[in-house]
Parts: sequence; C-alpha cells; structure tokens
Amino acid sequence: MAEDVYPVPAEWQAEAGVDASAYEAMYKAARSDPDAFWLEQAGRLHWTKAPTKAGEWSFDEANFGIRWFADGTLNVAANCIDRHLAERADTVAIIWEPDAPDEEPKRFTYAQLHAEVCRFANVLKANGAKKGDRVTIYLPMIPEAAFAILACARIGAIHSVVFGGFSPDAIAGRIEDCDSTLVVTADEGRRGGKRVPLKANVDAAVARASSVNRVIVVKATGADVAIGERDRWYHEEAAKVAADCPAEPMNAEDPLFILYTSGSTGKPKGVLHTSGGYLLWAAYTHELAFDYKPGTVFWCAADVGWVTGHSYILYGPLANGATTLMYEGLPNWPDASRIWQVVDRHQVHTLFTAPTALRALMKEGDAPVHATSRASLKLLGSVGEPINPEAWRWYHDVAGDGRCPVVDAWWQTETGGIMIAPLPGATALKPGSATRPLPGVLPQLVDEKGEVLHGATSGNLVIAGSWPGQMRTVWGDHERFFQTYFTTYPGKYFTGDGCRRDEDGYYWITGRVDDVINVSGHRMGTAEVESALVLHPRVAEAAVVGMPHDVKGQGIYAYVTLNAGDEGSAELREELRQHVRREIGPIATPDALQFAPGLPKTRSGKIMRRILRKIAEGEVSSLGDTSTLADPAVVDDLVANRAG
Ligand code: WT7
Repeated sequence: MAEDVYPVPAEWQAEAGVDASAYEAMYKAARSDPDAFWLEQAGRLHWTKAPTKAGEWSFDEANFGIRWFADGTLNVAANCIDRHLAERADTVAIIWEPDAPDEEPKRFTYAQLHAEVCRFANVLKANGAKKGDRVTIYLPMIPEAAFAILACARIGAIHSVVFGGFSPDAIAGRIEDCDSTLVVTADEGRRGGKRVPLKANVDAAVARASSVNRVIVVKATGADVAIGERDRWYHEEAAKVAADCPAEPMNAEDPLFILYTSGSTGKPKGVLHTSGGYLLWAAYTHELAFDYKPGTVFWCAADVGWVTGHSYILYGPLANGATTLMYEGLPNWPDASRIWQVVDRHQVHTLFTAPTALRALMKEGDAPVHATSRASLKLLGSVGEPINPEAWRWYHDVAGDGRCPVVDAWWQTETGGIMIAPLPGATALKPGSATRPLPGVLPQLVDEKGEVLHGATSGNLVIAGSWPGQMRTVWGDHERFFQTYFTTYPGKYFTGDGCRRDEDGYYWITGRVDDVINVSGHRMGTAEVESALVLHPRVAEAAVVGMPHDVKGQGIYAYVTLNAGDEGSAELREELRQHVRREIGPIATPDALQFAPGLPKTRSGKIMRRILRKIAEGEVSSLGDTSTLADPAVVDDLVANRAG
C-alpha cells in the first residue's frame, strides 16, 4: 500500500522543543528509569512538598493499586493560577468567545482569574462545600464553568462535570452515584443560537437526587427561572465574599475530579483522577504534543463537559501558563466560516478539534475557509475518534494551507491526557495514524489470548505499564475498575480499542472492539441506549449497534422488538427516538430504528451482534456463519426491512 508521508517541516525541525533525536532519547529514558524520569518531570509543577517517590503501582490482582508521587503535596488551582502571578499576572489566561459573533469576547488575565476563582471558592465554602465533597457542575461554556472547576480544585472539593447536553435523568444518576451535595448550574445555556433549559433540568434531576442541599445558579442569559429554597443566585452570593481564598494543600493522590463515561456494560462509570499525576500528565502532554511555547494562543474546541475540555481547555494550558480560548458556540454557526473567523479574531496558533466537526465543515466546501486568513495558525490537532485520511488531508491542505502539522491524538477519559500522538517537531505524519507513543507510554498489541504481537500487525491495544495520568479507580466501585480494565489481559491495561501497527512502528487505531460506539467523538454504551428503549411501555426488547455515518463517524442503529401483536408505525419510530433523547440526551438519539419481530439469537439466547452490525452497515451479503442461530429466518426479515 503506497502511503503518504508528511515529513517534519524544516521550521518545525529547527524550532521545536523536541526534535526526532530528543524524542528517541526521552522515550528511552522514560522506559529505562521511569522513577528518575518522572521525578524530574514532576519539577514542571509547584509542590508544597516535593515528592520523593514516582510510580508505585501493580496491575496484578494480588497487590492491585496505582499511586504516583504519593508523598508529595500540592494544590492544582494554585499550580494553574497563583504560581504564574509573579511573572504573568497581566497575561491573558482565558479568552472567552461568545456564541454569537456580534457579541464581545471577554478576557481574563491570570490576576483576574485568581480573583474570580477565589470568589467562586468562597461561595462554595459559604454554601457548605469542603475538602472531599462532590460538587456537580452542569454549566454551559461560559467563563464561570472554568471558575467553578478551578474553585473546587482550590478548596479540595471533587468536581463532577456533567455535559450540558445530558437529560435530567442522566444528571440525577451522576449526582446519586457520587452523593453530590452541591450543584452549580446556570439559568440557561446557549449554543448555535438555541437555548438549553439548564436550571429546569437540574430542578427535575434534584427532585429525585436527595443528596443535594444547595444549587448555585449562574445568571447567564437572564431567563426567568424558578428560584426555590435550595437555590442561590451566584452573583448574590459572590457579592458577600472576599476575592481571596487560601489554596487547600492536597496530597498528590487526593481526588481531583470524577467524570462519567460509558462502557460496554451497565451504567456510566465515574472515572476518578487524582491531583498530582493527572495535572502533571495534562501539563506534560500539552507542552509535548503541541510544542507549546509561551505567547501563543491555544484553542481546544471541545466542551468542558468532556475530558478533552478538562485537560486541554483548562488544566494543561493553565498549568503551563498559556492563553487558552474557550468558545461557547458551534464551529459551523451561524455559518461554516465561524471556526476560522474565531481563529482570526483571536490569532489562534494551535487549534485542537474533532474529526466530526471537520467532516461537517468539509461538506460546505472550501469557500468558507478561504474567506478567512488563518495566517496565525501553526498547528492543528485532531481528537476523539479515528480521523479518515480524506478529512485529515482537507484539514492539512485547506484549513492549514498545507503549512501546519496535524497532531492526531489518541487517548481516553481513563488516560487523563494524550497517549499516542506525533510531536510536531519530531514525527513524520501519515494521514489517519496517531503515529507513536509519547515518552512514558508503553503500548502493546495482543491477540485474543493475550499473546504479545510484534512487528507490523493488528491486535487489541493494551498499555503495559502505568503512567501518571492514569485513572485511579471507578468512583465507589474499585472492583469494577479492576474487572473492566485489568482482567481481559492480566497484568495490562486494556483500552477497548483495536489497532494496527505498521512497519515504521506507527499506530493506527481502528476503533472500539467492545460494545461502545463513538458518535461524533462521544462515547456511547450500546447498553445504555438499549436500557432507555426498553423503558418504553411498547418495547419488549432492543439491540443497539453502530452504523457508518459520514459526519458523526458512527451513528446509532436500534433494532426494537415491540410487545406481541404491536406492529409499530412511523409515529412510534419517531416517538422512540424522542424517548431516548429525553432519557439520555440529544447525543443518544438513534439515527436509524428498525422494528424487528425477532432478534438473531444463539440457542442459548445470546444476541448475535456481529450479524446486527453487518446489517446496519449494509453488508448483507457477508453475514458470516448464521448456522448457530436458534431461528435463521429472523435474519431474512431483518435484511428485508433494513432501516434506510
Ligand atoms: C475513545 C475514548 C480522547 C478524548 C476524547 C474521547 C476513541 C479518541 C482517538 C484518535 C482514534 C480515538 C478511542 C478511545 N479515540 N481519540 N485520535 N484516534 N480513536 O475520550 O470519550 O474517553 O473516548 O475514543 O476509541 O477509546 P473518550
């Protein structure tokens, strides 16, 4: 197969912090003496007590556990703000770009960020939050989201950010799972000119989740919302407190945040990250993968409700003293030039976005891109799902005018930050490949039995040893943590991804090998959508699989068996789609829904998803072996009535 290779551009080779030989040297150093390597890297942070130990971990059942820098103490918010004040109090920390282009952006210097975060921290304290408490944050992409998150870190409360697109039920489940006592929300959110009723959603969630005794409401749009006994307006509380709040000294292993993510079974897991290792990983990877240099504007166009927003809108860039851009809106609203106009308006140097956004923009043609300058852009990043080579080339050639390397960054909520990605000054690029591991990351490919595969090959992607940014547990269920990630291939962390490695040692992620689908870069457990569907009184059984989707990467294809005698209708199909949307949120809305009188099952009653996937993909001529089916005729009906 003839492959495109894009060598490191000459100016990157000359100016980047890490060139090819420095990368090789770092990779070797991290592998041969990880303790020395990571204790030195820990010097990136400001410790109130410097650690003397690096990684202390075991992936084996007998002495399972993961700790990093366990005798060090620090405060994450102080690392992201206070320690920059001496040198860059007046440097802009956060640029906030509003939803609508005719509104004014806001800028917060590090000194202003300090005051805002301290004030928010004092409001949290005055409303009962203390070290170790869980604070649920359900906010739109407004500056207060950053203040609230960092305020939690400042007082040692554990934040659990819930994406603003989730439903009341999904919020309630996440509040209940971690017994959150306090919720921070806003009257409404805005995105692409549309309003989201955040406060109303929280009211519905809190009616069920009894642990909550206080809801702090940020006035964002000024909408008329109900303010009950449990509620307090943020601006009224903020007026009562000081703009200074001491940073709580935290152990490196004290929890920093919980973030819920979907798995192949059961309800979403509360991925727990701790203070020292996570922050170091966010800072280290932000500098390395993006060759971050002071004075440049960094834009991660994600939502703070996802891990990408945690690590690359906030923690990584702020730990490095960067100017980070936070954008309230959508890349293609009011039109397909918007993302590039924002780049021009704020002279963005590095743009980090998702393939799904690129595919949506690509559809609009090149003219909206060419209507803008983009001269400030030097580096492009892609994250969240495999990037198809066509979208990669469009990003590189059209958006980046052929000048900007593309950093395709593979990682997961569980990994805390980037794991496999090119370094722009060190790694030649191949469209569609996340290329090579960062120093300190030990990927391996294994076969079904767990045998390690060598050379150019395909297999399941595991990580053979711990790294500082690794999640430490599933909140409230350490056993589930061990079972989910460390039992498929004993002694190794299993990512859930399939992967190919080529002759040059480049990694090509091929996608999930479990029952998790990736819709527009967002992870969705098929089991969750199935659970939502069977809650409907007319549904007897449901099976959900991924299907190819030209913008979302994967879409959601649902097979639904109705109660006996119920034939269904076009109206019911739409009602069920809306039902899932209400139960989970808009991102879970099925793209296709087929009424299936029966599902293909083995004689022992197990649904054969392999067959359902093939039908959803339209590959009906290659269904494979169907001889083990209890009733092979079921398949003919499914094929004949494929949802198109
Ligand atoms: C899953 C993790 C990474 C933060 C945002 C998503 C897929 C992620 C890539 C990439 C191919 C990718 C994987 C992974 N994924 N980045 N560059 N190339 N696949 O985090 O929701 O935890 O999802 O996203 O399948 O396992 P997440």
